[in-house]
Amino acid sequence: MVLLALSLLPAGILFAQKFDGLALTPPMGWNSWNKFGCDVNERLIRDVADVMVTSGMKDAGYRYVVIDDCWHGTRDSLGFIRPDPQRFPSGIKTLADYIHSKGLKFGIYSCAGDKTCGGHPGSRGHEYQDALVYAQWGVDYLKYDWCNTEGLNAVGAYTTMRDALFAAGRPVVFSLCEWGNNKPWEWAKGVGHLWRTTGDIANVFDGEVNHGSWSSWGVMKIVEMRKDIRGYAGPGHWNDPDMLEVGNGMSVSEDRAHFTLWCLMAAPLMAGNDVRSMGKETRDILTNREVIAVDQDSLGVQGFRYQAEDSLEVWVKPLVRGDWAVCFLNRSLNTRTVNFDWSKNVIVDDVAKRTLNTSAVAYSLRDLWKQRNLSTTGSAFRASIPSHDVVFIRLSPR
Ligand code: GLA
Repeated sequence: MVLLALSLLPAGILFAQKFDGLALTPPMGWNSWNKFGCDVNERLIRDVADVMVTSGMKDAGYRYVVIDDCWHGTRDSLGFIRPDPQRFPSGIKTLADYIHSKGLKFGIYSCAGDKTCGGHPGSRGHEYQDALVYAQWGVDYLKYDWCNTEGLNAVGAYTTMRDALFAAGRPVVFSLCEWGNNKPWEWAKGVGHLWRTTGDIANVFDGEVNHGSWSSWGVMKIVEMRKDIRGYAGPGHWNDPDMLEVGNGMSVSEDRAHFTLWCLMAAPLMAGNDVRSMGKETRDILTNREVIAVDQDSLGVQGFRYQAEDSLEVWVKPLVRGDWAVCFLNRSLNTRTVNFDWSKNVIVDDVAKRTLNTSAVAYSLRDLWKQRNLSTTGSAFRASIPSHDVVFIRLSPR
């Protein structure tokens, strides 16, 4: 009798899990929040999808077009969520169809609380209903926030939404946006595909921006805050240091350093700028395929800081086929010269169990930003690096 009853339950409820295999490398795409905040509408999202194709971003690997907060209208009399009729008069399904017709994927935003951070209807108590609606609309990616969640248990709330998505049956990348409050890296591997590790990013290289009751964080602040959790990331489950600020006002050097560090950290690459009006320098950063290849490396190991001396840092990331990515970062306000003797540095990665020892293996070097071959690890590496900039190199066994 019990067996009969169990066999009648939908499989999704009995064996709820996250959808596997959707994020074997860090997700790439675009999200409206960093540049547009609540100022979203269907025209903007369609135009962005168009430019993702014409700018080469799609070819470079960007897939998900995600509307963040403030797309919502009200719930109908049965509790089903509807979009804001002024901002999205054609409806979300039509918009999702358009994005899919471009060969892109479509993402949306909700919140575990009863209201989103922007004060719109959240999913609390409506998880299964919302997941069903998203599936009907053709949603491929859900960013799920953590505002207005007083009294909620994070593991429970995110697991409920994971189960609801699974029951709805449409494969969805599940992006936890819980800001690292409850250490999602310790429990979310089976719940979602990526989890925010900190509060919001700010459009500054270092320091914080004080908003009164909360702060947003510069690029280097975020990097510093969570540099010890790399062991939790891997194929299918990524640490998310927040969406990109490339093209939103930092200097070109700073944008390049920010993008490099995100790739070095195997971070999700969600562009957050106005791609419709971006200049060549921004586009060149966002679409440099050799740099992106470090982020998307199938080994899926998050890199780490090997050395920090006097504002000059050396970051490394092991890659497939015995390659390594090495980033020299100048955090100071002046141009600095790096002089790095490979033979004097045996770099051990305890997480990936790999060692970079140029006395045992010789490597050829390639400058990934300039896309130019350099010499080998047989001689010391010397370069002059402007303030807040990087040199990013790929080492391949000779
Ligand atoms: C939170 C998130 C942001 C963004 C806003 C939307 O602050 O961390 O990334 O989604 O909410 O209101």
